[in-house]
Amino acid sequence: MTKSKTELPQRYANRASVNTIREVFDYISRYRGKIFVLKIEDSLIGNPLFPLLMKDIIQLHNIGVQLIIVTGTRTTIARNLTAAGIKSTFVKGIRITPDSVLPHIKLAAMEVVQTIISHLAAGGANGIMGNWTKARSLGVRKGIDFQWTGQVEKVRSDIVHKLLAQEFIPVLYNIGLNAKGDCYNLNSNQITRQLCLDLNIEKLFFIRSQDALTTKGLLIPPGAQVHPNGKILSNIDLSHVDFILSNNHTVLSPEDRELLAHAKAVISRPNGVNRVHIIDGRKEGRLLQEVFTSVGGGTMVYGNRYAHIRRATQDDVPEIMHLMDGYVKKGNLVMRTDLDIKNQINDYYIYEVDHAIYGCGALYDMGQRCAEIGAIAVNTAYKSKGVGRGIMQYLIQKARDKNIKTLFLLTTRAADWFFEFGFIQGRPEDLPEHRKNNYNMERNSRVLLLDL
Ligand SMILES: CC(C)(COP(=O)(O)OP(=O)(O)OC[C@H]1O[C@@H](n2cnc3c(N)ncnc32)[C@H](O)[C@@H]1OP(=O)(O)O)[C@@H](O)C(=O)NCCC(=O)NCCS
Repeated sequence: MTKSKTELPQRYANRASVNTIREVFDYISRYRGKIFVLKIEDSLIGNPLFPLLMKDIIQLHNIGVQLIIVTGTRTTIARNLTAAGIKSTFVKGIRITPDSVLPHIKLAAMEVVQTIISHLAAGGANGIMGNWTKARSLGVRKGIDFQWTGQVEKVRSDIVHKLLAQEFIPVLYNIGLNAKGDCYNLNSNQITRQLCLDLNIEKLFFIRSQDALTTKGLLIPPGAQVHPNGKILSNIDLSHVDFILSNNHTVLSPEDRELLAHAKAVISRPNGVNRVHIIDGRKEGRLLQEVFTSVGGGTMVYGNRYAHIRRATQDDVPEIMHLMDGYVKKGNLVMRTDLDIKNQINDYYIYEVDHAIYGCGALYDMGQRCAEIGAIAVNTAYKSKGVGRGIMQYLIQKARDKNIKTLFLLTTRAADWFFEFGFIQGRPEDLPEHRKNNYNMERNSRVLLLDL
């Protein structure tokens, strides 16, 4: 029976969702038991989608991610002070906290924490607040007394660890105590930073009520990844952070500058945070997208080399099969069974990004200083991002390292692409003897050659 026209797209749609489910399972097993810190701006609380964001946070908790929340309180403090008719003084963005202001700040902090804990409780998760932040006075600087504004000294990570082990979600806020029990008004981002320096954190999220890092007016560092919409920086490493900080003095907002500086500090310390994400909490599902998909939706800052190419293992065989499947059906690639791949697994290489496989390729040594390149396939979601080029350059270098003199490959649709790497058109007769014998005349692939 032939397939109806509507059946085929449905099958592809099903496969796409199955792939997404697989990707999610992979991430779940990777992040279970790991600690994520979520710095949440209080300006999000009034957003109609805030309850959904909190539900997503609870989902993360339910799958076994250990969560610590740090609340921002700026909006609530501003509202409370305005209501009380009090004007605050800021010096270089730091609030001076006189006696008259401190009670309002404490009240705002409690209000925000209570809201967060109520949302957690409504979803069956146990948030717990406590003062685990040690602080000291910011003191007098250049003749200006900052009064009850403090600086973070340390976070009681021992207590936080115990609470995490008991499946609580610790909620920290912008008040710290000195040894005498005096309260200081603190910067929540500083608390977040200290937490990340004191504990072993997998991911830090700055969840805010504005876009992730936008490209608007920004001098973008070479090699930084931008979202397909061109508006958001998606993946940047620490060298990109340095570039952005030193080349965008007038463009970068003080908030963005502060977050990038924190990201740099927590990533670059030994055993530092793996990834820092800046996300827009007003966008539905943005947090889950950022955690569970390799494309994400916010700005991710990473320290180690984000993408790398490695030799494939037997565990990769199903994914290699899956990667090639669509291209085999379309006729770009020749059909291989999983046994074919298993038997030659040492010839296969994987282009991996954050443990997700973006592409693959193989280098088959034919003896007599001759090798074949094959099975080049890039996940359609990541096409035209240099993945294929990366694999080809790697395989060509690998061939050089092995002292290969002639590379060849067979292709039906991508000859123009391979010409870019210096391949030239050859003939089936140019193939090594045993490869000539199993050349598929019906497939009639083009033969390309490269002398190294
Ligand atoms: C061919 C393939 C490997 C390219 O990978 P990729 O990661 O998308 O490619 P890159 O990002 O390195 O390069 C992208 C450039 O190559 C061009 N390109 C992609 N496929 C091409 C093709 N079949 N012919 C000519 N050019 C091609 C793109 O237009 C793009 O050009 P641009 O940079 O000017 O926009 C990928 O498209 C693929 O998996 N194709 C199907 C499998 C296949 O044909 N394999 C080769 C047989 S072994």
